[in-house]
Amino acid sequence: MFSVTLILTLLGAFTTLSFATPVKRTVSHGAVINRDFPDPGIMRNSDGVWYAYSTSSSSGLVPMSNSTDFQKWTTPTNVLASIGPWATGTVWAPDVRRITPGHYVMYYTARRKGGPSNDHCIGIATASYPAGPFNPHAHPLICDLAHGGVIDASGFEAPGGGLYVLWKVGGNSIGKPTPIKIQHVGADGYTLLGKSTTLITNDPVDGGVVEAPSMIYWDGWYYLFFSSNVYSTLKYDISYAVSRSVTGPFKKVHAPNAPFLVTGKFGTAGPGGATAINVENKYVNMAFHSDINGKNSSGGRAMWTVSNVCLGNGVAKAC
Ligand SMILES: *[C@@H]1O[C@H](CO)[C@@H](O)[C@H](O)[C@H]1NC(C)=O
Ligand SMILES: *[C@@H]1O[C@H](CO)[C@@H](O)[C@H](O)[C@H]1NC(C)=O
Repeated sequence: MFSVTLILTLLGAFTTLSFATPVKRTVSHGAVINRDFPDPGIMRNSDGVWYAYSTSSSSGLVPMSNSTDFQKWTTPTNVLASIGPWATGTVWAPDVRRITPGHYVMYYTARRKGGPSNDHCIGIATASYPAGPFNPHAHPLICDLAHGGVIDASGFEAPGGGLYVLWKVGGNSIGKPTPIKIQHVGADGYTLLGKSTTLITNDPVDGGVVEAPSMIYWDGWYYLFFSSNVYSTLKYDISYAVSRSVTGPFKKVHAPNAPFLVTGKFGTAGPGGATAINVENKYVNMAFHSDINGKNSSGGRAMWTVSNVCLGNGVAKAC
């Protein structure tokens, strides 16, 4: 009798233990903003509130939505006061970072006034609150018409606090490559320092482009997420490259460990334009868009999210 009791007690202890040590699993929350909200940039504020910003839509020049639980998001409202005196038209792929308390920087793409249709530049707008209003600077931060324009900027803070901005050169607008570049910036989050470095560029396997860069650091590795193939099709995807150093060299990860996300996984359609966020080295969440009509981008692109991306030894996966 005694030994049976002992065994049952031990089994109980093991059962308790296995429940007390939860296994981290990637969870898809589906279309959490189920309306047109393309190229979402997300950030988690110091008070734990999540903010998402998207390409211009009927919700505004830069629609913003927020969430306290990463599940339920508010109805998007505009947060960019104007496109800026240098620019014309609408905004693409904004990204917002909290640089210091009360200083939020938005990196955004717009067409330069008076230039050809591919003269896209990266602009800066700043705000005291993540809900804006964001006020644009008078001049663009980065232009590169000679190589096809620049789009898809995002910010990155390296371990130790160094700040960087990443972007895509729009070479596909002139039949040229689409390198993804990085440059060190000052403590204000936008003053360019030194020279830019190319991290990756498109190979034949990428279907014409690499774009929408988003970088995170996790346990000794830099993960550079990007999208490849044509954004309006079901081939659009989220892939990644890895490095041990912020400025590279980066190595694209290949099958079976990449792409990270393709059509069909979690019920997505043409997933892309991702932003990954490392929350205090505890977990990594991601937002991206997926075609609402399940076929192409013509019916709009909803914002989807996943919690707990699994990363280790230079591999990122849904687990
Ligand atoms: C969240 O967004 C809504 C608009 O969608 C806005 O009215 C509200 O002020 C925002 N909340 C915070 C905490 O920024
Ligand atoms: C996109 O999908 C819709 C819905 O199936 C279809 O009607 C439309 O023709 C498609 N557009 C293109 C450009 O393929």
